Amino acid sequence: MKGLIIVGSAQRGSHTNALAQYLKDQIESHNEEVTIFDLAEQPLHTLDFTGQNAVPENYQNNAERLRNLAREADFIILGTPNYHGSYSGILKNALDHLTMDDFKMKPVGLVNNSGGIVSAEPLSHLRLIVRSLLGIAVPTQIATHDSDYDKREDGTFYLSNDEFQLRAKLFIDQILSFANNSPYEHLK
Ligand SMILES: Cc1cc2nc3c(=O)[nH]c(=O)nc-3n(C[C@H](O)[C@H](O)[C@H](O)COP(=O)(O)O)c2cc1C
Repeated sequence: MKGLIIVGSAQRGSHTNALAQYLKDQIESHNEEVTIFDLAEQPLHTLDFTGQNAVPENYQNNAERLRNLAREADFIILGTPNYHGSYSGILKNALDHLTMDDFKMKPVGLVNNSGGIVSAEPLSHLRLIVRSLLGIAVPTQIATHDSDYDKREDGTFYLSNDEFQLRAKLFIDQILSFANNSPYEHLK
């Protein structure tokens, strides 16, 4: 089984990326494969059908890689910072590069991080999008705050709040359970 985690922060080394790393470790502890696609490290061009703006080759390659990973994934996790009470624009743009064929009847996990007041609203907004893409957004979700993370000596963030660590384990158990017991194969 293969998974994909899309990280939608505009900041490299984001809290959302640290959460994705924690989730990746959990998934790998179940001997399942997962790839993190961090949009701050592999940016995509704004979706544009006008033909008036040349797209640099590295951006085209990033978009193609994302499409391939999404098409092959058995489950997808969407991670976003809270930007203006919702998910980030770059995550929406990444989703606009994908189609229903990438999401249809696949379990989708939703996680976000806020720097201000903790909010799960970005996840409620993403739930609507996942439905439109015919994915199955699992009920458990994770909404953290910057204070749930600490820094290592090298300056990178890690998820340090033990309640969220436990929730992350349950979240992954749920996604893998959906993916492993999918009754929807014939509907894909
Ligand atoms: C454009 C923008 C809008 C933001 N809007 C909110 C907001 O509405 N509520 C909030 O709690 N934090 C807001 N923030 C702060 C981010 O949630 C905060 O920087 C958080 O640490 C981002 O997580 P990350 O490190 O995963 O990118 C905003 C940040 C940016 C750049």
